[in-house]
Amino acid sequence: MNIKLFELRDDEAAAYLRAADDLPAGYSISFDAQILSEANIESVAGCEGIVINNKSVMPATLVERAHELGVRYIAIRCVGFNHVDVKRAQELGIKVCNTAYPPHGVAEFTVMLILMALRRCKAAIWRQQVNDYSLDGLLGRELRTLTVGVVGTGRIGRTVIDNLSGFGCKIVAYDPYPNAKLAERDDLEYVDIDTLVASSDVITLHVPLMDSTRGIINADAIAKMRDNVTIVNVSRGELIDTDAVIEAIESERIGALAMDVFEDEIGIYHENRMHDILANRKMAYLRQFPNVLLTNHIAFYTDIDVSCMVEQGVAAVPAMVEGTCATQL
Ligand code: COI
Repeated sequence: MNIKLFELRDDEAAAYLRAADDLPAGYSISFDAQILSEANIESVAGCEGIVINNKSVMPATLVERAHELGVRYIAIRCVGFNHVDVKRAQELGIKVCNTAYPPHGVAEFTVMLILMALRRCKAAIWRQQVNDYSLDGLLGRELRTLTVGVVGTGRIGRTVIDNLSGFGCKIVAYDPYPNAKLAERDDLEYVDIDTLVASSDVITLHVPLMDSTRGIINADAIAKMRDNVTIVNVSRGELIDTDAVIEAIESERIGALAMDVFEDEIGIYHENRMHDILANRKMAYLRQFPNVLLTNHIAFYTDIDVSCMVEQGVAAVPAMVEGTCATQL
């Protein structure tokens, strides 16, 4: 079987070669550095398996064309799968999986953002650059005195909880499918989403983007939050109603916001757009605030995670063929 991997970056090349070497007999693989799109979909002809990352957006039309061209297995080599019409693929008999790379890189990044937001690091770093060493406006808060609400207790949310447990903060968690082992721990309490929103000083999002989670942080939720709340999002930009948070930053209802993701970030994040006119007004507006910290979707970007995404993504195709793929959707 031929497999084609799209969106190969230079930093993934070594892992790609290892993954290619490890393929079982009967499989061969090629790559394209481009994202998979309408423009190059014809190039999948002859490939039963494709491996894509988060930028190869596959709505129903592209899934259908891929199917017509012979694609039967789609391995998404990231955690998020909101960019692929998985339902349409499954209707056509295409097997689809995502990838479960280790959660530690993203979880550590989350804790870093929480601390940076609470300690006003963005404003402090800005000031350092211009010889402003004043303290005004930099008064921080100590995590051990606060309640952190973790929305989503899958692998990443659970690892965030593990990482936070050393700080002495109170932890509350929400998940529509609570984890039985976690529920037994006495250092955290599962609560419903309204209670979490109303009782947390820090809210961190670790749920996938689905119809039920789109805009989970909206004006209604913000109205229930504690004053001076800190919101952290390393999951998907669309979990947050950006207009609502802009208003809450302007009215100072939200104390700090740290986001590694942004709505409509595809085409911007992971590209050098320095000399271009960008059309994401909300991003340009929000990033001016001293208490809004934006990073360019890099929580996953560690040596270990990058290798795992490529190696597990490629290995997932034969695993789906064998029926042994643990992350099949
Ligand atoms: C994911 O794994 O879902 C991510 O968000 C990382 C991706 C940008 C490569």
